[in-house]
Amino acid sequence: MSDGRVDALLSALTLDEKLRLVRGRADPEGHATGYVPGVERLDIPPLGLVDGPLGIRDRQATAFPATIALGAAWDPDLARRLGRALAAETRARGHDVLLAPGLNIVRVPTGGRNFEYLSEDPLLTAEAAAAYVDGVETGGVGATAKHFVANNQERRRDTVDAVVSERALREIYLPGFRAAVDAGASAVMAAYNRVNGHYMSEHQQLLDGVLREEWGFGGVVMSDWWGTHDAVAAADGGLDLEMPGASPLELFAPNSRGLRAMLRLRLSERLDLDPPLVWRLADRVTDDGQPDPYPFDFFGDPLRRAIADGLVAEATLDSKVRRVLGLYDRLGTLDGSRSDSAGDTAPTVDRDAHHDLARVVARRGTVLLANDGVLPLEDGDTLAVVGPNADEAKVGGGGSSEVTPTRTVSPVEGLRGRTSAPGVTFERGVERVANPSMFDLPGSGLRRRLGRGPDFDAAVEAAADADVAVVVVQDGATEGEDRDSMALPGKQDRLVRAVTEANPDTVVVCRSSGPVELPWADDAAAVVQTWYPGQADGAALADVLYGADPGGRLPVTVGRRFDDYPVAGDERRYPGEHEHVHYGEGVFVGYRGFDRDGVAPRFPFGHGLSYAAFDYADLAVEATGIDGTADLEATALDVAVTVENRADRPGREVLQAYVGPPAAPAGVDRPERELAAFESVALDGGERRAVSLSVPQRALARYDPRDGWTVDAGEYAVVVGRSARDERARVSVELS
Ligand code: NOJ
Repeated sequence: MSDGRVDALLSALTLDEKLRLVRGRADPEGHATGYVPGVERLDIPPLGLVDGPLGIRDRQATAFPATIALGAAWDPDLARRLGRALAAETRARGHDVLLAPGLNIVRVPTGGRNFEYLSEDPLLTAEAAAAYVDGVETGGVGATAKHFVANNQERRRDTVDAVVSERALREIYLPGFRAAVDAGASAVMAAYNRVNGHYMSEHQQLLDGVLREEWGFGGVVMSDWWGTHDAVAAADGGLDLEMPGASPLELFAPNSRGLRAMLRLRLSERLDLDPPLVWRLADRVTDDGQPDPYPFDFFGDPLRRAIADGLVAEATLDSKVRRVLGLYDRLGTLDGSRSDSAGDTAPTVDRDAHHDLARVVARRGTVLLANDGVLPLEDGDTLAVVGPNADEAKVGGGGSSEVTPTRTVSPVEGLRGRTSAPGVTFERGVERVANPSMFDLPGSGLRRRLGRGPDFDAAVEAAADADVAVVVVQDGATEGEDRDSMALPGKQDRLVRAVTEANPDTVVVCRSSGPVELPWADDAAAVVQTWYPGQADGAALADVLYGADPGGRLPVTVGRRFDDYPVAGDERRYPGEHEHVHYGEGVFVGYRGFDRDGVAPRFPFGHGLSYAAFDYADLAVEATGIDGTADLEATALDVAVTVENRADRPGREVLQAYVGPPAAPAGVDRPERELAAFESVALDGGERRAVSLSVPQRALARYDPRDGWTVDAGEYAVVVGRSARDERARVSVELS
């Protein structure tokens, strides 16, 4: 960063101009999700920020698979490729900053935005996050790690206080963000919620203390949209940029002449109306689950007044402006030197290539949960495709991550395009599941229905007549609210049961935002979890059903029911009581909690079958350089293992190393096992490969509120397996 240039600009800016750089506005063109107007006098151009993790929310863009599918690929290199593609799409639309990745931990199985997050595990999240961020940043675009931190539910997200121990924050909720910062993320978005009593947009301890001082983050902290509550608290608490700094009406209808005329009249000001008229109108079109967008101008006049009154030092504003200018400078937008790491200054989007990448990510994120041998399908098999939405691609969930795809392939189209068998039939069977959208106008849910309604019996009959039945089921999750339950909506479970009874060769394809109940899992011949696969949905599905080895492994535990999860059983843990949600399970999130409670999941974390078959041998672990808490990223254990594909077809294996710690000091409970390293490897039929995994010291450490990161002496179990519960080799190492 050229500090000199930033300093020179800073000293040339007037107070008004500085304030223009710390508060968003509506994009006059109406394309960016967030916009900083810049200062024309000093050639500081506008800055465009755009949603979001699954693709670019600006006109048409490639709708990539949901982030949880990327988590399921267990492959940082793939995350990097995706980041690069997103950066290219961001730049091709003229924007500067991508509002992604979403790095919250999947704590609540019904969380409304689980599909936007990577995993329930901090290490898997951190590894994928770092690579995603690296891909975006080397693509010449600023990445935004969001939502910092503990935004683990949508229910009352705008006000709820997450009461969470420092240990759980450090061990579970923060590592993904730390990895994103280490990988060079330009920005961090503060979450809506409060943490231990303070709104995240004004959380000095976490923003100034942890993020900046401890982790050395030099980028910009922005608020979530309308997530600022107080000018002085946010200014002193570490927020740099108030977003969006505009009302929803200005944001979503910037070119409306009526609105502009109304704003020009300044009626509210003249009539002394508070809230103003524009907000009263906006309130009518915003949904529940959204924060109150009024007021939205804390870093404008209120901050100016606070500075004039001596409540906020101008130097505090200067440091914010310096960080915003630092972001400009880093992107090369101050002097026109902007390029990606390959020196490309004006990337164009190859839509075909990006569609293909969306297909690869969807395939690699697909988890083959169960298979009695019906898969892969034979080309000549006749197929009955059944399911309420099987004739449309599942392109993400509702909310700010919604993307308008460049094209789509539905499961029906994908399978029809692949098989040479005549007549792939399609029957909906039950009522279509609504795909919630944050941008639906009231009443648009009453979509006009074309053609005949669903016919349950016809679906079952078609299934009985075909060689193989493929039932496609889904949920419908959205930002702003959590799912009511882990059950599939509507009568889909009934449909699956009837179809599996009618045809023993039934493949169930589950497109869901996170874990769902799957009560019929033992009766289906195969169960395939594809999350929200994005625009290439059906193409990727056909790849997998016809034999491409799905590389996916579960990034979350699939329990039998909500009550099996560690957040269940106490309203205070979820959804919270009196605006507080107590993270009473501590570090026992996801599989850590299932292990502690001795609950058998339906499918464990890390699980996923392959069409190939793998043997493990020669596990050896060498302890290297345990040096107390000096360098947590230093390698603590070198794990060597040989894996062999004993099938006569290629396959992909994800080697997973878990560490079981020694007994901790009295009063400290530690998880039975924790993911410590992993590697996704593609092996030809018959191929044998020695793989080495390196376990960083951090993976062995626990966080002690008094002593900080601590590596206990004693015997550690190192287990290599195919999931958290499928152990293939184990050794013990003694650390002193
Ligand atoms: C609110 C969401 O929480 C955030 O993820 C998104 O980037 C902003 N809205 C802007 O759409």
